[in-house]
Amino acid sequence: MCIQDHLQVATMKMNNKGFNQKPRGICHQNLFSNSKLVATIFIIIFFLILDAWMDLFVIGKSRIQMMTPSISSTTNTIIEIPLNCNNTAQTCPLNYPSRFEPEISSSETCPDYFRWIQQDLKIWQETGITRETLERAKPHAHFRLVIKSGRLYVHQYTKCYQTRDVFTIWGMVQLLRMYPGQVPDLELLFLCHDQPGIWKKDFRQEDNATWLPPPLFHYCSHRDAYDIVFPDWSFWGWPEDWDKEKELGFKSSNLEDQCTHRYKIYIEGRAWSVSKKYILACDSMALLIKPEFYDFFARSMVPLEHYWPIRSQENCGDLKFAVEWGNNNTDKAQAIGRQGSDYMTKSLKMKYVYDYMLYVLQGYGKLMKLDVTVPENATEVCSETMVCPTTDGGLIRQCMDDSLVMSPSVKAACDLPQPYGDDELKRFLEKQESAEREVEKWTDEYLNVQDTFLQQRK
Ligand SMILES: *[C@@H]1O[C@H](CO)[C@@H](O)[C@H](O)[C@H]1NC(C)=O
Ligand SMILES: *[C@@H]1O[C@H](CO)[C@@H](O)[C@H](O)[C@H]1NC(C)=O
Ligand SMILES: *[C@@H]1O[C@H](CO)[C@@H](O)[C@H](O)[C@H]1NC(C)=O
Ligand SMILES: *[C@@H]1O[C@H](CO)[C@@H](O)[C@H](O)[C@H]1NC(C)=O
Repeated sequence: MCIQDHLQVATMKMNNKGFNQKPRGICHQNLFSNSKLVATIFIIIFFLILDAWMDLFVIGKSRIQMMTPSISSTTNTIIEIPLNCNNTAQTCPLNYPSRFEPEISSSETCPDYFRWIQQDLKIWQETGITRETLERAKPHAHFRLVIKSGRLYVHQYTKCYQTRDVFTIWGMVQLLRMYPGQVPDLELLFLCHDQPGIWKKDFRQEDNATWLPPPLFHYCSHRDAYDIVFPDWSFWGWPEDWDKEKELGFKSSNLEDQCTHRYKIYIEGRAWSVSKKYILACDSMALLIKPEFYDFFARSMVPLEHYWPIRSQENCGDLKFAVEWGNNNTDKAQAIGRQGSDYMTKSLKMKYVYDYMLYVLQGYGKLMKLDVTVPENATEVCSETMVCPTTDGGLIRQCMDDSLVMSPSVKAACDLPQPYGDDELKRFLEKQESAEREVEKWTDEYLNVQDTFLQQRK
C-alpha cells in the first residue's frame, strides 16, 4: 500500500508545525473557540501544507489494474514490459517497445482542464523555444530532463526536497512505458520547489521586447508567472508521509474518521498544495480559501459547483456564513460536495494524469527550435535503473512497484478538447468571478444583519 489510486479515499490531519508557519490561518482560533461552530462543523481540518509537514496517505485499489484495462477476449495484443533486474550493471534494456498503437481509440474528450495546456505554452507559440530561451531557465531548475527517441536522460543540478525529484522522474518514465513512441524529443528544465520560478514582471514586453521568458516546468503556477504546470510527485509516491503514518501505528489512517465531515477547508501554504485533491475528494463541501496558485487541474473548477469560495481576507465571517448556509441548505451543500468529489475522482484518474502529461509534452515538443542533445553528464533513466538498486524493501520501492506501468495503454489518450478562444476564456473567467461575487454579496448581507443585531443588543 502506498499512494495508489489516491483519490479513492484520503486522509489528512492538521499539523502543528505547518500551522505555525502561516499567519493566514489565523481564523482557526476564532472558529475553535466558538463552540457552536465547533458543534456544527464536525471537524474542520485546517491544512497548511508544506511538504513533509503534511501527514497524508491514501489507500486504494491498484493503479496497475486501472492502467491495463481489460481487453476483450478477441484481442490478445496486450504486451507486457517486465522489469528486468538481471542485468547487474543496471543499464536500461534496449528492447523496450519503441512504438505501440493503442487498439482502442478514444471515445471520450479529456476533462476541461486540458484546455489550459495551450494557454501555458502560448507565449512561445510564435517563436518556438530556442536554446538561448531554454537555457535561461537553468538557474531555476533542479534537473534537466531530455527525451530522445523514446529514451529518457536526466542531468540533476541539485537535490529536490525529499523524494519529489525521484517520483517526478519516475512519473515520466512511466509515461514513456504507457505511450511508447508518442512522447516527442525534447529538453526541459524542472523546478521542484513550492513556488513558481518565472515571474511575469521580470519579462515585461516594454522592458525587453526581444527577451522571451524561459520555459520552466513546475508543479504549480500563478497568474503572474509563466511556469508550465505539471502533475506533482504525489501521484506516484510520497513515502515520507507514509513513514509518519507507520510510526503512529496507522491510528490516524482510519478512513471512516476522515471522510465524514460536512465541511473541509482548503488553505494554501507557501504555494499550491498537494492536499487540495484529497480535501476535495471527500464528498464534503470544500470551503476553499481563495488560492493564489494553481496546479494543472485547478483552473477549470467553478465556485458553487465544486466548492464554496472563501475570501482570503475576510475568511472568518465567510466561513461562518458558509457553514450556516450549508446547514440551512443541506441538499445544496451536499451537491457541491459531491460535484467537487466527482471532479477529483473522475477527471483526475491516473489515465487522465498521464494523458495530460502526454499532451503537455507533445505541445512543448512542437516548440523545440533546438537540437535535442543528451548533455555530457546526463544519465539514462528507466524503471530498471530506478527500481533494481532499491532492494531494501522500503517504501520507495513499494511506491514504485505500486505505480509501475506494466503495459502500454491499449486505450488511446482522450481527445484533446479545443483550447479556449480568447472570448471563451474571458466568459469562463467571468462565470467564475460572478459566482464568487454572488457568494460575497450573500455573505455581506448576512454579516450586516448580524452586526446590526449585535449593535442593538448592546
Ligand atoms: C532473469 O533471470 C531469471 C533467472 O535466471 C530468469 O528466469 C528470467 O527469465 C530472467 N529475466 C529476464 C527478463 O531476462
Ligand atoms: C534584455 O535581453 C537581452 C538578451 O536579448 C539580455 O542580455 C539583457 O540582459 C536583457 N535586459 C534586461 C534589462 O532584462
Ligand atoms: C439559516 O436559517 C435560519 C432559520 O431559518 C435563519 O435565521 C438564518 O438566517 C439562516 N442562515 C443562513 C446563512 O441562511
Ligand atoms: C560534467 O562533469 C565534469 C566533472 O564533474 C565537469 O567538469 C563538467 O563541467 C561537466 N559538464 C557539464 C556540461 O556540466
